[in-house]
Amino acid sequence: MNRVRVNRWRALVEHGANSGHNTTFSMYFKSQPPMTTALQSNVVSGLEPTLPSSWYLQDRYYELEREHIFMREWVCVGREEEIPAKGDHKVLDLYGESILMLRNDMGEIKAFYNVCRHRGARICPAPNDDDSVLALKGGIVGKRSIICPYHAWTYNLDGQLTKAPHLSTETGFKPEGINLHPVGVATWGGFIFLNLTPDQAPDFEETIKVARRRFERYPLTDLRIAKTITYEVNANWKVLCENYNECYHCGPVHPELCRIVPAFREAGGADLDWERGVPHREGATTFTFSGESTRRSFPGLNEDEQVRHKGELIYPNVFLSLAREHVTFYILHAKSPGKTIIDCHLLFEPFEIEKEDFDPSDAADFWHVVNLQDWAICQRVQQGISARVHERGVYAPMEDWNLDIRRYVQDRIGPHVETHAKS
Ligand code: FES
Ligand SMILES: [Fe+2]
Repeated sequence: MNRVRVNRWRALVEHGANSGHNTTFSMYFKSQPPMTTALQSNVVSGLEPTLPSSWYLQDRYYELEREHIFMREWVCVGREEEIPAKGDHKVLDLYGESILMLRNDMGEIKAFYNVCRHRGARICPAPNDDDSVLALKGGIVGKRSIICPYHAWTYNLDGQLTKAPHLSTETGFKPEGINLHPVGVATWGGFIFLNLTPDQAPDFEETIKVARRRFERYPLTDLRIAKTITYEVNANWKVLCENYNECYHCGPVHPELCRIVPAFREAGGADLDWERGVPHREGATTFTFSGESTRRSFPGLNEDEQVRHKGELIYPNVFLSLAREHVTFYILHAKSPGKTIIDCHLLFEPFEIEKEDFDPSDAADFWHVVNLQDWAICQRVQQGISARVHERGVYAPMEDWNLDIRRYVQDRIGPHVETHAKS
């Protein structure tokens, strides 16, 4: 176990039970029903508790997370390459809100709520909208204008109203200053992050500062998507985050992965140096079935990065896994307490993608196997925690990074849980 993790865990074990942190923690949960004798067996002496199972199962907690996490934090929605040219756009469904994201005349990425300032019509059809009865006009027209299909109010690609047909300024009406409701946009490493409450957005740099530091030698901005796999997983998004954050499960769940990284089997992954990157077996350098690849390593990696694998979870919804010659990233879309859609993308250097014999399947097939194992076990957790006797789980010491999600969620919705319970 690396020093940082040892010290962190010891601090929790030695002081956790009586710390202010835990006082706050239990305070948030006093609205929970009193534990029966059977439920008390959920408490395991010496181990830190997870969030209560109800937080993974019930709509009321999902709604609080939606409002106080997904509507307020920077959420990853994709890559800049998905809207490469001026006027390109995508309509996104973000936690039930329809968002129009585009590239403006200056080549900047902009995003707006997909709703007209006149009487609120949805401007662009969303991917799942049924236009089979009648396809309406409007939307992004000529890659220059955003036109509402109802009365043809017209906005430029910065979301400013430029034309409202038949309305005269003589009535005092002024199009200037009328804008589509904005959504915050930030980018890092080619990833696009949006914030749905931009006037209260947290500092974006805080969101990505660890990843920016740890991955500074990886050419993330230059990489391109060569393969995407979308999964629908019947598990709460926090179950998926907790699973991503630990390798205690790797021995039992991921035999193929452990053949590439035997250290995952040792001590439940407790001795891994996550900061430096996890080591492959002798002769392996990347995450493929063979442990090798003919693709070149990213130029600029240090010696460790050429033979080790790094991972990072950027809360609340993106997992990053970095090999020496490809990057796998996951965008989580929490749809309900028990359902999460996951887009898994594999990134490679354009230099490799352009080769005639380029084939990403050595990495993609490997990840697909690992992914299916992860999703299957997460679904088992979701099923298991709904048992009437299960009030909450516990974290083993090598899972201590999981405590991060407990704090992350607790800090953001904990105060509202109390308010909510009283209302
Ligand atoms: S609702 Fe959009 S122009 Fe009337
Ligand atoms: Fe896993």
